[in-house]
Amino acid sequence: MLRGKHILVGVTGGIAAYKVCYLVRELRKAGADVKVVMTEAATRFVSPLTFSALSGHDVASDLWTHQQSTSSDIGTQHIDLAYWADLFVIAPASANTIAKLTYGLSDNLLTIVALASRCPLVLAPTMDADMYINPVTQANVAKLRERGCFIVPAEEGEHASGLRGPGRLPETEAIIRFIVGVLDKSTQDLRGKKLLITAGPTYERIDPVRFVGNRSSGKMGFALATAAALRGAAVTLITGPAHLETPRNVTRVDVESAAQMHKAVGIHAKEADAIIMAAAVADYRPRAPARSKIKKGRDTESLMLALQKTPDILQSLGQKKARGQILVGFALETEHALRNAREKLRRKNLDLIVLNSLADKGAGFAADTNLVTIIDRKGNAEKLPLMSKFDVANEVLNRLGKLL
Ligand code: CTP
Repeated sequence: MLRGKHILVGVTGGIAAYKVCYLVRELRKAGADVKVVMTEAATRFVSPLTFSALSGHDVASDLWTHQQSTSSDIGTQHIDLAYWADLFVIAPASANTIAKLTYGLSDNLLTIVALASRCPLVLAPTMDADMYINPVTQANVAKLRERGCFIVPAEEGEHASGLRGPGRLPETEAIIRFIVGVLDKSTQDLRGKKLLITAGPTYERIDPVRFVGNRSSGKMGFALATAAALRGAAVTLITGPAHLETPRNVTRVDVESAAQMHKAVGIHAKEADAIIMAAAVADYRPRAPARSKIKKGRDTESLMLALQKTPDILQSLGQKKARGQILVGFALETEHALRNAREKLRRKNLDLIVLNSLADKGAGFAADTNLVTIIDRKGNAEKLPLMSKFDVANEVLNRLGKLL
């Protein structure tokens, strides 16, 4: 997996920087071409000369001197490094660098390259336990993960300070295993394909302040968008109200209601090679939304809300499906699940349907894991074990890729 791969290793300031010498050596032993970029703080812990000897390449650290020494393309060094890499791993990733990456600060060569890179970005957050568990660090890491960065789980144990807790850099073998796993999920098998993915709930207006909605978090659709973009697809993500970060290299279109989603899908559907409807679109909307806020009537003990059906977006896509276009739907069933999902696949003219389970632990709306059965046109049903929504996304894309 690593043979011939261009691995860019980013080193930030921290005592664990010395361990990354072994990482560079092992990556090269495994056949990878390795370049190293360091922050100024990292050079205080390990000399660039050490990394240069281990990697067999000049080490980039200072933006200005480096630009001058690589004479031919002055001013584009950061872009060159970013495009050279098949994978960028930052280890140790300090709290400071993580915060910078979260907010797009780019005041040194390492953060500039990270901002410019399109390849998978792997971070190994490494810092003293108290810094690691600080809510601000945790929130930053969570944001980066939502955007599609891969986070190597930190190890627990004793720190150089004497503190015990999480935040230690994992052993070299563990980081390499993690990198291989990421490369495996980032094969460019969907390059050149256009994917349209929908996510999240829809909100249907009752009046200017109230709506009918549902509990979809958008996590499944966002995971699909993240995974597809990593595999090289050009992804448009149409999402209802979801409080999630936009994944890297994904074009996001925000909508609110089923009608708006219908319209947005209509605009993008024609050119899509595949459409995945992961959104939990409302089946009904208030028939006559009030123009002003509905007041609580003094004598009104109950209030009737008349609802009318929304257009079934997926069904209409199925009716006018272009030749070769692949349609994937989701189904959430509580009874006769398989039978209903198969029937839905037929009725909506789908190629695949992903049957969600609500009843099982670890599955459902806000969870990070999901338990699904994937059914194809021939009626084959494959029940997958409980896995992360990102892994479910890749399972769906594996099957989709074969159909494209
Ligand atoms: N869907 C859609 N437009 C709607 C409703 C649903 O495109 N107005 C899509 C969803 O995105 C999902 C699939 O249809 O991919 C299945 O939705 P679901 O609500 O489970 O099924 P329905 O066909 O609406 O039937 P029911 O609610 O009766 O199960």
